[in-house]
Amino acid sequence: MKLAGKVALVTGSSQGIGQAIVIRLAAAGAKVVINYRSHPEGAQETLAKVEAMGGQCHMAQCPQSQGYTVQADLSSVAEVQQLVAESIAHFGQLDILVNNAGIENHAPFENVTEADYDAVMNVNLKGVFFATQAFVNHLVATQRTGKVINISSVHEELPFPNFTAYCASKGGMKMLTRNLAVELGPLGITVNNVAPGAIETPINTKLLNDPEKLAALLHNIPLGRLGQPQDVAALVEFLASSDADYITGSTFVVDGGLLWNYQEQ
Ligand code: BGC
Repeated sequence: MKLAGKVALVTGSSQGIGQAIVIRLAAAGAKVVINYRSHPEGAQETLAKVEAMGGQCHMAQCPQSQGYTVQADLSSVAEVQQLVAESIAHFGQLDILVNNAGIENHAPFENVTEADYDAVMNVNLKGVFFATQAFVNHLVATQRTGKVINISSVHEELPFPNFTAYCASKGGMKMLTRNLAVELGPLGITVNNVAPGAIETPINTKLLNDPEKLAALLHNIPLGRLGQPQDVAALVEFLASSDADYITGSTFVVDGGLLWNYQEQ
């Protein structure tokens, strides 16, 4: 049990990659805080999956569930701070923060409104910034080390026309990671990014239902398939464990080869 005794908060974990990460970290022994914004049923489903794995925790020895759900909108700094505070109040500590919540908005650059821009930047970058700040303040106050894992995207490097705010948020996340790795390293806090490519999750439902677009995308993926949330969760478990103690400031791409695939026809 690599993560026994650890407590992890995974933002945006009522579905998709976040849900898979929660299940994987819980399977490795961590207690997990499941965060959702507008899908309490998804959060309950994640919690039920954590509890169904059970086994290691018999009611008599372990009256407290291994999972706990908290509603919070990551675009609000007050709610982000409340989320971290509630997680700590419930489990007594936090050791791992996975900044997973993220949104995207498809629109030609000329049509993007201030509200569209703010929605994306506030969840994908501002929320990450202040969740990490609240987490770090907790670690400093309790004199403990910890791990921050950001779920970025291949689009922290790769242009994605019609998603400029999304790409700017992920590019910002890349520099947030590098900067904090340097600033927080002396405190024993590591900060890394995981950059998924095209993963089969609700964020790209539209694409998954468009056979032509899907075929074009698959053509660009050397491994010939979309990724599954578990493909990302496996790496997050590693980065959250002590096996990754000497790793900080890095981005790890999980994309079936998509990012560096250039071919002349
Ligand atoms: C985006 C998806 C996109 C994938 C590959 C992800 O970051 O959320 O919409 O399909 O990158 O381009």
